[in-house]
Amino acid sequence: MSQSFYITTPLYYVNDQPHIGSSYTTLIVDIISMYRRMKGDDVFFLTGTDEHGQKVQQAAEKNGITPREHCDIYAIRFQELWSYFNLSNDDFIRTTESRHVKVVQHVLQMLFDKGEIYKDSYEGWYSIADELFISEKDHEEGNHRDVRRISETNYYFKMSTYQDQLIEYINEHPDFIQPVNRKNEILSFLKQPLKDLCISRPKERLAWGIELPFDSAYVTYVWFDALLNYITAAGYLSDDTKFQTYWPAVHLIGKDILTTHCVYWPTMLMAMGIPLPKTIFAHGWWTSKGQKMSKSLGNFIDMETIQAYCDNVGKDVYRYFMAKEGPLLNDSDFSKERFYQTYNTDLANDFGNLVNRIFKLIKKYYNGKIPLPGNLGKEEQAMKIAAEACQDAIMTHLEKLHVNAIAIEAVAYVTSINKYLEKTEPWKLAKTDPDKAATVLYTALASLRFSAALLYPLLPKKMSEFFTMLNNGDVPGTLMQWQDLHAGRELGEMKALFPRYDMKLLNEE
Ligand code: MSP
Repeated sequence: MSQSFYITTPLYYVNDQPHIGSSYTTLIVDIISMYRRMKGDDVFFLTGTDEHGQKVQQAAEKNGITPREHCDIYAIRFQELWSYFNLSNDDFIRTTESRHVKVVQHVLQMLFDKGEIYKDSYEGWYSIADELFISEKDHEEGNHRDVRRISETNYYFKMSTYQDQLIEYINEHPDFIQPVNRKNEILSFLKQPLKDLCISRPKERLAWGIELPFDSAYVTYVWFDALLNYITAAGYLSDDTKFQTYWPAVHLIGKDILTTHCVYWPTMLMAMGIPLPKTIFAHGWWTSKGQKMSKSLGNFIDMETIQAYCDNVGKDVYRYFMAKEGPLLNDSDFSKERFYQTYNTDLANDFGNLVNRIFKLIKKYYNGKIPLPGNLGKEEQAMKIAAEACQDAIMTHLEKLHVNAIAIEAVAYVTSINKYLEKTEPWKLAKTDPDKAATVLYTALASLRFSAALLYPLLPKKMSEFFTMLNNGDVPGTLMQWQDLHAGRELGEMKALFPRYDMKLLNEE
């Protein structure tokens, strides 16, 4: 059944370049969107940039430009990277756009009028680096950088009043926070009394933000502003039909922004009277050389390095690698050895070899025309049934957003086609039993075609090239029937889709 499906990435800060962390979330959201579209869903995929706050103001000052100029430069870097990867996002929102400012100010006024926001003074610790008020304990433990003692009057959102309601909601909706370890993390966080949320910053300290509609001496706290993007882009206040169609969303985020998404955001929505997100899924982190990536440690992997790998083996391979080996449930270590090894094993050896073998045999023994099969035997039927089972399993993993499992499932099916060929040996049958050879080669090619359809969202460019080579009149990006391979049609020109990467070159790069 076709459903509307709204999925988001976090909005990336514009004080940093895109890196493998931001590319990871965005690529897997693209992959999920493409599988959903393949299944017939009406998908709305949102990404964008988070542009207000102290760090942007400081970076702009340092470079002698205005914050807006700074944001324009950085937002384009993200947009260019997403178009380099041909991403299928339906919208790109920038928090400095007027459509968003309008929503933030409307929500603030509404909550202020409802008595959900009040003014109070505070004296305590504030982390400039993290733009957060922190507790005495956090300060003692040294969990935050650039901490100062400040005394300030600000506006607060009555987040604490929603604590019990939130706990109840989490317990009653097992899919709300995923995976389960993240849900438990939030539930244990909620065992402590929840504080009210400071949602303003005085302009004298920070001017780069959205002005409070009820007090022009303040701007909005960057997280309160940024989280609202998810409803702005879905048409809140501007397009009610769109909002009714797509909201609530599925949010994919990294584990470091769990609290803001699973505590601040749902309580804000409760106060507004808007349904909570369908799911918030927090993935782990890419590490490098076993550690958190950082420029100072020298283990940071920038996108220029990645683009050089892509020049060697294709952009699709990075996308595939992100999905299959990425830190969806646990952290995962990135290395170029692992990248090229995965490429060689899964794509060059498994898929690539299979294409070569089948195409060469059909060219040699059937003049390049897809052979007409006889009755399918037990093993052939098993290949067809396994293909359908593989598709069902992928759709189940898709519901759970388990992209690693999707990739593993699809590749396991490709491996099983290779095994089928090794067992049936059509290169021998072609000489001894041409009818059986025709059935075997048809079966292998039908299975390969089916696997290519299932791999399409992971490797869209490569699989499109495959479908051109196959010349069966298929539309890539759609679900296919195993038996819709047309016997008698001539195969297209053969091309090496995944030439083996010579691991000896690793040290020369
Ligand atoms: N601007 C906020 C999000 C606001 S959403 C309304 C933010 N931006 S961020 O640019 O710092 O981070 C964006 C995402 O990148 C986070 O989900 C974070 O987990 C992810 N990653 C940053 N480094 C990462 C890795 N090394 N590995 C995987 N993802 C990581 O937070």
